[in-house]
Amino acid sequence: MINETLEKAFNDQINAEFYSEYLYLSMYAYFDRMNLQGFKNWMDVQRQEERAHAMGLFQYLQDRGGKVTLDKIEQPKTNWESPLDVFEDVLKHEQLVTSKINALADVADSVKDRAAVSFLDWYIKEQVEEESNVSNVLKTLRLICNDKQCIYMLDKELAARTFTQPVIE
Ligand code: FEO
Repeated sequence: MINETLEKAFNDQINAEFYSEYLYLSMYAYFDRMNLQGFKNWMDVQRQEERAHAMGLFQYLQDRGGKVTLDKIEQPKTNWESPLDVFEDVLKHEQLVTSKINALADVADSVKDRAAVSFLDWYIKEQVEEESNVSNVLKTLRLICNDKQCIYMLDKELAARTFTQPVIE
């Protein structure tokens, strides 16, 4: 059985991961309107990753005998000024998610749930990768891409990103 406080913290994180999927889907729609197919693809992969993160926590909570309680999902922003503006938001969002995952791991630690602490290690490492992936795109946008041709070239590059179902354990 899982501690009640930890169960609540897991449910909050499940909601945050579904919100992440929603946010990236909104960014996907923005890039679709802009006809930037590579950026759109990047967001499609990202939103699938978020769904996998949410379902990993969901399944773990169920496996531990906890109760999954789905809450309403906040409405995401729907418009941005530019691809740079989008990716500034993505980095801010991933930094927020990192702090939430750390806080969840702190709750697991405080109730001495060693199994949950160990399970959450995967998410802590994943956040390092998430922030790094976003930072790489952002660096290009900030330092190099100040013309339409560069956005076009970057769009071609981002079209190559593919989704691989993560193994969360
Ligand atoms: Fe699920 Fe992008 O963190």
